[in-house]
Amino acid sequence: MDARFLVAKYDGRVPRYTSYPTAPHFRAVVGDGWYRDWLSRARSPGGLSLYVHVPFCRAMCWYCGCHTRVAKDDVPVQAYVGALRREIALVAEAIGPLAPVSRLHWGGGTPTILSPDAFAAIRDDLGHLFDLEAIDEHAVEIDPRTLTDERVAMLADAGVNRVSLGIQTLSEPVQQRINRIQPFVQVASAVERLKRAGIGSFNADLMYGLPAQTEEDILETIEAVLQLKPSRISLFGYAHVPWMKPHQLKIDEAELPDAQNRFAQLMAGAGALAGAGYRRIGLDHFARPDDVLARAAEEGRLRRNFQGYTDDAATTLIGFGASAISETPDGYAQNLTAIPDWQRAVFDGRLPVAKMRALSPEDRLRRRVIEDLMCDRTVDLEQVLARHAQRPDLLDDCLARLAEPAHDGLVEIDGRRLRVTERGWPFMRNVAAAFDAYLVPDETRHARAV
Ligand SMILES: C[S@@+](CC[C@H](N)C(=O)[O-])C[C@H]1O[C@@H](n2cnc3c(N)ncnc32)[C@H](O)[C@@H]1O
Ligand code: SF4
Repeated sequence: MDARFLVAKYDGRVPRYTSYPTAPHFRAVVGDGWYRDWLSRARSPGGLSLYVHVPFCRAMCWYCGCHTRVAKDDVPVQAYVGALRREIALVAEAIGPLAPVSRLHWGGGTPTILSPDAFAAIRDDLGHLFDLEAIDEHAVEIDPRTLTDERVAMLADAGVNRVSLGIQTLSEPVQQRINRIQPFVQVASAVERLKRAGIGSFNADLMYGLPAQTEEDILETIEAVLQLKPSRISLFGYAHVPWMKPHQLKIDEAELPDAQNRFAQLMAGAGALAGAGYRRIGLDHFARPDDVLARAAEEGRLRRNFQGYTDDAATTLIGFGASAISETPDGYAQNLTAIPDWQRAVFDGRLPVAKMRALSPEDRLRRRVIEDLMCDRTVDLEQVLARHAQRPDLLDDCLARLAEPAHDGLVEIDGRRLRVTERGWPFMRNVAAAFDAYLVPDETRHARAV
């Protein structure tokens, strides 16, 4: 079947499955007793994964879908840091002393907006309250436009060993339309200075589907970015959700590429990256064969969490900061999103959680199936069902839903074994969605499928 036809047929709105159940299905809660219970049994044998959310940027990129806001000066950031340190102490107290940590990740927003003193204070608090001795990955998201030498030194001093650089596009007309002017030399200088400070391993975030963006723009951006030799590249499809992010209204919808053009951009980008020797990982990541993520994918150790694809094996991920989401063996918890509410909660001595989702046995089962499909493109349902002590035919209604995608060549079904085909990989979210018990058909909350 012609790719154009597939795009027209499968361009529904489906989740990205960075969790299952997905965040719209978390429910509002009052009180934090339940979360204290969850945290008291959340230590994971291989160590916890910690995420620190810094929801501030110097200017708003109009496409941005992250939980962030503009801070023109350091006053709100400093107030935020005070609350963050308080939250870290509260959570550490609930988990118990010196829980071992395997990963520390700072995201946002723009974590490098923090002053070196603030960054070091948070890092020191974490070091006093958790056991950071065995951390194998300390990662930070960086906006190259605001990366000063002082910030580079701050990251190196803290032992950061992986960074993610927001690049998005190097096409100037597109940059103008997204309010993000960022010449190549600025990105190259950031990479060079980081490398000199000993942080050589970096991820480049690129986007397709932006206003007025073309296939040629994407290929030129990729060609330039490859000169910098990133170990990983993420190629995200622009999620246009102005009903959730009103600043996206500044983007002229008439200039957005349609579904067919978005698909052509994705395929062109993926082809160029494969041609340059990068392995495709899951839905939107690409990694050099020597990168740990590529090795994890090869060895069946790839996982999916709120930060996207990862080789992190931790069963507990604690998110600090307004809007941050945590995952413990019991389920998901999301912090208050509005900074003043979150601040008030922590200064009142409450864990600042606002939403939760405890996992039922069936949720866990479906989560396994969806994660296997999103990471490995294949799943043996009978095996997963047996491991979850369920009847082998429990998910047969979901299999039946895949008859048409199978007929269209997106997925191969052999008994109760599924494999997303090479033609089907851009549509892997649609295949995974067949196992989502909560998805309302044609739900408009989500962004486009491809
Ligand atoms: C927190 S930002 C990265 C760090 C830094 N704030 C920057 O922009 O340079 C995370 C990444 O999410 C991606 N992103 C943001 N908004 C998006 C959207 N609406 N759709 C798809 N990807 C998006 C961008 O690639 C961005 O680099
Ligand atoms: S893309 Fe990055 S820099 Fe731009 S507004 Fe979003 S978080 Fe801030």
